[in-house]
Amino acid sequence: MALLSAVVLALASLAAAAPSLLPRQSITNLTQAQIDAFTPYEWYASAGYCSPATTLAWNCGANCDANPGFQPVASGGDGNAIQFWYVGVDKALGTVIVAHQGTDPSQILSVVTDGNVGFENLNSTLFPGLPSGIQAHSGFANEQAQTATQVLAAVQSALSSSGLKKVTIVGHSLGGAIGLLDSVYLPLHITGVTFSSIFFGLPRVGNLAFATFASTGNTITHINNKEDFVPIIPGVILGFHHPTGEIHINDNGSWNMCPGMDLNSTLCSTGDVPTFLQGNLANHNGPYNQVTMGC
Ligand SMILES: *[C@@H]1O[C@H](CO)[C@@H](O)[C@H](O)[C@H]1NC(C)=O
Ligand SMILES: *[C@@H]1O[C@H](CO)[C@@H](O)[C@H](O)[C@H]1NC(C)=O
Ligand SMILES: *[C@@H]1O[C@H](CO)[C@@H](O)[C@H](O)[C@H]1NC(C)=O
Ligand SMILES: *[C@@H]1O[C@H](CO)[C@@H](O)[C@H](O)[C@H]1NC(C)=O
Repeated sequence: MALLSAVVLALASLAAAAPSLLPRQSITNLTQAQIDAFTPYEWYASAGYCSPATTLAWNCGANCDANPGFQPVASGGDGNAIQFWYVGVDKALGTVIVAHQGTDPSQILSVVTDGNVGFENLNSTLFPGLPSGIQAHSGFANEQAQTATQVLAAVQSALSSSGLKKVTIVGHSLGGAIGLLDSVYLPLHITGVTFSSIFFGLPRVGNLAFATFASTGNTITHINNKEDFVPIIPGVILGFHHPTGEIHINDNGSWNMCPGMDLNSTLCSTGDVPTFLQGNLANHNGPYNQVTMGC
């Protein structure tokens, strides 16, 4: 008993003493096979930029052709006030797909910096029963709220028609921000289903309580490319945080898994791109492996 307590104490103090060492040691390099496994989701995120008519017919060109077995269920948005979105089924991957359109880099800067720079509580009708203290960027929250109920209905329909028990949410840029909010929203209304999310060039969406909640029970991966500075906005200094699951693409094209949140290492976005001045917006659209985002 005493020995056990001593061991537990020793482990606890080790963990407490080493936080700055542990993450650095556990940055790991992805193999090419691990990198390639993201390819279908890159095409799905890129197809988020295609018009609803073409995603509903699944004839949006290269982005659609890359995943030929996809069965669309619903599409929407106008690409202006409301970002495009689509929902459908990929039987081969065994998942319902939810995708949201991103925006061009100047637009995302304006969403982040114009007017609504502050945090807001999430709408309690859409997000019932969230722990208190969770807040998100109001510009992103407002975007997500515009399509939330339509996307929920489409996901429920796709799950029941396919019999699948998995939902994967994808998006690039602003589409990732909307998707991250969906990844908190959808599980509040749908149970008995596994949620997973894969985002590209994701900006920071909410406060630490939001990022922590989003990281729990939902497998999130967010991949950022080289010196893209969208992933470092809004700043940690303003109280914004990323969820866990960062993958950073280095200048030489190798991919790192960055543990924790906002790891301040040059092998991860927060440390590699300390400010706008070190950033390069040309890296925002990719390429992510072989895929450059856009329709
Ligand atoms: C990362 O992976 C690549 C190939 O996947 C390999 O060539 C390289 O040596 C690895 N780098 C490190 C730091 O492990
Ligand atoms: C919250 O969302 C519901 C459902 O979409 C909507 O009817 C209501 O107006 C929203 N409330 C606020 C304060 O925006
Ligand atoms: C690529 O760059 C990363 C980060 O600088 C480095 O850790 C890794 O070893 C490099 N990989 C290769 C194959 O040069
Ligand atoms: C990262 O570390 C550098 C050097 O210590 C520091 O100047 C910077 O403020 C840190 N950034 C964040 C977001 O913590």
